[in-house]
Amino acid sequence: MGRANKVILAYSGGVDTSVCIPYLKEEWGVKEVITLAADLGQGEELGPVQEKALKSGAVESLVIDGKERFVTDYAFPAITANALYENRYPLSTALARPLIAKMLVEAAQKYGADAVAHGCTGKGNDQVRFDISIAALNPNLKILAPAREWGMSREETISYGERFGIPAPVKKSSPYSIDRNLLGRSIEAGPLEDPKIEPPEEIFLMTKAIAATPDKPEYVEIGFEKGIPTTINGKTLDPVTLIGQLNEIVGKHGFGRIDMVENRVVGIKSREIYETPAMLVLIQAHRDLESLTLTADVTQYKRGIEDSYGQLIYQGLWYSPLKEALDAFIQKTQERVSGKVRVKLFKGSATIVGRESNNSIYDGDLATYGAEDGFDHKAAEGFIYIWGLPTKIWSQKTRS
Ligand code: ARG
Repeated sequence: MGRANKVILAYSGGVDTSVCIPYLKEEWGVKEVITLAADLGQGEELGPVQEKALKSGAVESLVIDGKERFVTDYAFPAITANALYENRYPLSTALARPLIAKMLVEAAQKYGADAVAHGCTGKGNDQVRFDISIAALNPNLKILAPAREWGMSREETISYGERFGIPAPVKKSSPYSIDRNLLGRSIEAGPLEDPKIEPPEEIFLMTKAIAATPDKPEYVEIGFEKGIPTTINGKTLDPVTLIGQLNEIVGKHGFGRIDMVENRVVGIKSREIYETPAMLVLIQAHRDLESLTLTADVTQYKRGIEDSYGQLIYQGLWYSPLKEALDAFIQKTQERVSGKVRVKLFKGSATIVGRESNNSIYDGDLATYGAEDGFDHKAAEGFIYIWGLPTKIWSQKTRS
């Protein structure tokens, strides 16, 4: 008896996930392996990937376009939450995992599989995100993670694959580990493992070096509808096109790079480089529009919710009851977050330079420094007397 009968394997076309196919069959007695490659805008052709899976012994090889769902159901909610892990990383890789898990579970249902599998090792965040998401969506499915157990070195993995007709990588493999999708690129390993070394320019693809950016600033106007970005420069765009175009425009001006040491779920600190131009600008612009349309207390209370939200996405809890409850709060706050934000892009910076909304609660008559304003200046005196009373009394009683 094998560990499972029929398995849906999350597949990227790389050596590791390819080796998973014969490994599952030979070592773990799985009868049929169906691979699933999710197209989330990683910008590479998935046709060859499909063929590769079949050559490696899969009975069927699925390629599913998930770009629209990815942006609408995962990236957009994260933007309404202004979700940044450790205040910096807009979760471009992390957001893809719950969707891939969902696609695996849906395929398992459709093809009558009793297990799903992935090629994650035991040191990363992605195994956590996959395993928890799969269990949340279908607690009866078995989860197989061969690379977490097989204990083979890179060389051993390659030569194991060669025994089953999986070719060794042709080009000298890059020292970096890179994850890419529509929302951004995550780059780690190789020389980046030394946190004091500056990342070499060659690793960046979506963002230009400052020296290569245009010498003139460019303005871009982003329109939001109930917290969701819908237009660029007045044109309504579908979600996938909107993100794609914004990545182009913003990346061209060298904005969107992050270099950080982050805390993984499994306790390891890792040095990560990200480029996520669209997500970073969208979160900045969205937060700005909230400042114009939400009351002070909602804006400030939401900050704490946002931190929790970012953390739970990172930690694999997308399908958790806490996430659902926070979603209800966030959605309620977004009802009036509609309007436009103008961003100035120049030499590696993205600066918000203007905002407007039909729901603005900014009151020019109250705010103006001109002589004729609508604010009752005399009322301030009594307010300050009461507001400052505890501090004043404390001072009187403690400073003798
Ligand atoms: N540290 C990031 C995260 O956990 C990205 C990991 C991406 N994987 C990679 N092979 N570079 O979301």
